[in-house]
Amino acid sequence: MRRLDQLLSSLGYCSRSEARGWVKAGAVTVGGEEADDAGARVRPADVRVDGEPLDHPDGLLLLLHKPLGLVCSHDGREGPAVYSLLPERWRRRNPVVTSIGRLDKETSGLLLLTDQSPLVHRLTSPKHKVPKLYRATLDRDLSAELVTLFAAGTLLLDGEKAPCAPAELRIVAPREAELVLTEGKYHQVRRMFAATCGATVLTLHREQFGDLTLGDLAPGAWRELPLDIFNH
Ligand code: URA
Repeated sequence: MRRLDQLLSSLGYCSRSEARGWVKAGAVTVGGEEADDAGARVRPADVRVDGEPLDHPDGLLLLLHKPLGLVCSHDGREGPAVYSLLPERWRRRNPVVTSIGRLDKETSGLLLLTDQSPLVHRLTSPKHKVPKLYRATLDRDLSAELVTLFAAGTLLLDGEKAPCAPAELRIVAPREAELVLTEGKYHQVRRMFAATCGATVLTLHREQFGDLTLGDLAPGAWRELPLDIFNH
């Protein structure tokens, strides 16, 4: 049970004081009856606003095709963010919708967004070793030795205390590779190539997160995932 005004404000409908106005105006029903107390404790599933059930009262989990040029940070000073792609109401939710891990501004591909912080912690923890598949193009030819180097689990990047976990590299063309990482250190793919062979990553795209793929989602589009998809 949740306080009605707090529920509406946490789902991004309005402020708590506006919720009182909505209740007075008769816009809210609980169990089919017009609500008369914005402070009443209610079951989210019983509430209707303008006759409509509440918008994802149990939480959101989204699979987004992140386009280039948007950041995952919530700090507006870092530039336009992936959250600008979402409906206004979702952007006003509290807890906020945030990315599960981050992709750089100049990385495209599969990004999960959620308001479920336990899920963020679980899926970003290196303990859980969720494999993430990246496709990179580089500014120089790659040598086969890199495959062994990345797989060894000994590569220590500048400023890191622990070496990179073993990573699977497949060289698919002289200047193109797929890389599977089970962790997410800052700029990890770019830094791994720079540190080992001096290569600059020209394009970087995340194709897969665990078993999830983008399918035919266009850049900037998202689809909803069931909240329990990772429970199996
Ligand atoms: N590694 C990077 O360097 N950048 C990303 O966005 C993701 C992984």
